[in-house]
Amino acid sequence: MTDNAWRRPRFFHLLQIFRSTAGVPGATAEAGVFRGLGSRILCLERRREDPDFDGEGHFGVDSFEGLSPPATIDDDPSCAGRFADTSVEMARRTLEGFPAVELIKGWIPEALDQLPDQQYRFVHVDVDLHDPTRASLEYFFPRMVRGGVIVIDDYGPWPNGEFPGCKIAADEFVMRHGIGLAALDTGNAVIFKR
Ligand SMILES: C[S@@+](CC[C@H](N)C(=O)[O-])C[C@H]1O[C@@H](n2cnc3c(N)ncnc32)[C@H](O)[C@@H]1O
Repeated sequence: MTDNAWRRPRFFHLLQIFRSTAGVPGATAEAGVFRGLGSRILCLERRREDPDFDGEGHFGVDSFEGLSPPATIDDDPSCAGRFADTSVEMARRTLEGFPAVELIKGWIPEALDQLPDQQYRFVHVDVDLHDPTRASLEYFFPRMVRGGVIVIDDYGPWPNGEFPGCKIAADEFVMRHGIGLAALDTGNAVIFKR
């Protein structure tokens, strides 16, 4: 992915919030992997916690064919297929040194069924659009352990204001479940499992 400078604070938050879950048991996952940068950041931190960490217990789910067709609510009819310039092999290269990371290629929501039924400590939801964001939250939240955290990447505005559907999906989700959400000024948002 191009290193757009505005992304760096989001990755900084991703790392810091992940660090807040140190000692919490469970797997880690990323919905929306693209070329693997977010997953690499999480795996490097897991290795800092455990020098023997080889990727086992980290999962990535992506079409590896770009964004799915948007819903009307996403307000961006032409975005399907964006981020298609990747592949499982490309993400694997980014994740070099972590051979046991499990990468699942497929479309969310169906691809989520390929994950083992397990509990999670931390999940990064970065699929940009309303429907896969909603599906990812519905899938992962009940599987989060107490003390676990979900970070949603595209809750707030990008510099160019894309992906309103993601925010709507997150707001609807927390309303439906009567839980809280913390929005960060960098555009990502956090849901804590208590
Ligand atoms: C912004 S990119 C993810 C960036 C990545 N987290 C990183 O750290 O570089 C969004 C990703 O979501 C994936 N995606 C969007 N909708 C999807 C869906 N319905 N099923 C599977 N993957 C999807 C795209 O393929 C794309 O790779």
